[in-house]
Amino acid sequence: MSDHLTVVDHPLVQHKLTLMRDKGTSTAEFRRLLHEITQLLAYEITREMPLTTTTIDTPMEEMVAPILAGKKLALVSILRAGNGMLDGVLELVPSARVGFVGLYRDEETLQPVQYYFKAPKELNDRLVIAVDPMLATGNSSAAAIDLLKEAGATNIRFLCLLAAPEGVARMKEAHPDVPIVTASLDRELNEKGYIMPGLGDAGDRMFGTK
Ligand code: URA
Repeated sequence: MSDHLTVVDHPLVQHKLTLMRDKGTSTAEFRRLLHEITQLLAYEITREMPLTTTTIDTPMEEMVAPILAGKKLALVSILRAGNGMLDGVLELVPSARVGFVGLYRDEETLQPVQYYFKAPKELNDRLVIAVDPMLATGNSSAAAIDLLKEAGATNIRFLCLLAAPEGVARMKEAHPDVPIVTASLDRELNEKGYIMPGLGDAGDRMFGTK
C-alpha cells in the first residue's frame, strides 16, 4: 500500500456509513453496521498480506495453493471505541493476535497519557493493524502508534471509519510510514475536536453511554 490515505468508496461502505451517521440510528443498529463496515474496510487494509504456497489434495488432485505467510496479524484496539471494530476483523482473520492501547487526554497539557498497554509478542515480525473509528485531532492515534513502535512494530496500518483532514495531516507528519484506510475524509474538526459532519461520539453511540 503506497498511498498514505485510502478512502474506500465502495457503495456498500458508503451506504452503511450514511446509516451510521444518521442520529436516528439505534445503538444496536450502529454496532451492527460498524461490525459490517469494518469487515469491508479490513478487506482493503489486508489486501497486501504476503502469501506463500502449500501443497494440498483437493478431491480431484494435488495442487500447490496460496496460503497466508509469516507471523499472525496483530490487531490493536485503541480504547474504547476501537473495541467496536475488533470482532469484524477477527471474523475475517480468526488467528490474529490482539492488543489494547488506552490513552486519556490530560486536561492541563492536552497531551495523551497512557493508562493501559498490552501488545502481542514479536510485534516486529507482524503486520500490525491499529483500529479506532475516529481519526480526529490525530494526537491519540499518533501517540498509540508511538507506543507500538516502541514495542517493536515496524509494519503498521491504521484503520478508521472517519478521518478529519487535521488528523490525517498529524499522522502524516508523525508517522508517514503508516498507511491509513478509512470510509470517509470528512470536512473538518469543530472547536471541541469533533469531526464534522461526522457521526458524533462513536463510543457513546456504540455503547449507548450518552
Ligand atoms: N471522537 C469521536 O467519537 N467523535 C468525533 O467526532 C471525534 C472524536
